[in-house]
Amino acid sequence: MRTLVVYTSKTGFTKTYAEWIAEDLGAEIVRTQDLSREQLASADVVIHGGGLRASRIEGLRTFLRHWPLLKGKHVALWHTGANPGRPETVEGVWEQNLTPEQLERTTRFYLRGGFDFTRLRGVDRLVMSIMRFVLKRKKNPSADDRGMLAMYEHPTTELSRENTAPLVNHVRSLDA
Ligand SMILES: Cc1cc2nc3c(=O)[nH]c(=O)nc-3n(C[C@H](O)[C@H](O)[C@H](O)COP(=O)(O)O)c2cc1C
Repeated sequence: MRTLVVYTSKTGFTKTYAEWIAEDLGAEIVRTQDLSREQLASADVVIHGGGLRASRIEGLRTFLRHWPLLKGKHVALWHTGANPGRPETVEGVWEQNLTPEQLERTTRFYLRGGFDFTRLRGVDRLVMSIMRFVLKRKKNPSADDRGMLAMYEHPTTELSRENTAPLVNHVRSLDA
């Protein structure tokens, strides 16, 4: 089966996952912005991943413009975020980013990334600076708030090749 990995990554976490997945599956890899109709047409399995930005998955909207071309293909999606990946959080993100039909016709995964404030530029850096200001002023910060604040001080990463196993095994099982 011809497999194509498509990704959007701003600070590199999603890109690393995309490279690991493509390597393990012997797949072609392309950035969402460079994806061509020809590449999509020749693939049997299409996998898309994007980093999370305020519950929106980067690149997914652009990728889903090709939705009619994905008919009859296996489509797997993942997103990479800094959150610990509680099922209700992950499901909520998918429900916000996909239509009921897209939810029905895709298989979805969450691959935990990390947070590196030093790699942020422009609007992202500004938004996250404001967030840090707000978090610092909270009277009763939650454990997640405290965890987030700690990430500003020390770049964190939960990147691990093992995290890709459920996705990679799912795609391999399509071949069986
Ligand atoms: C502006 C901004 C908003 C973010 N919002 C979220 C969020 O809502 N949930 C989350 O888990 N992570 C959030 N993150 C963290 C990123 O999703 C995380 O760093 C991810 O690994 C980035 O992937 P990338 O390196 O491939 O761009 C945010 C980061 C930035 C800069």
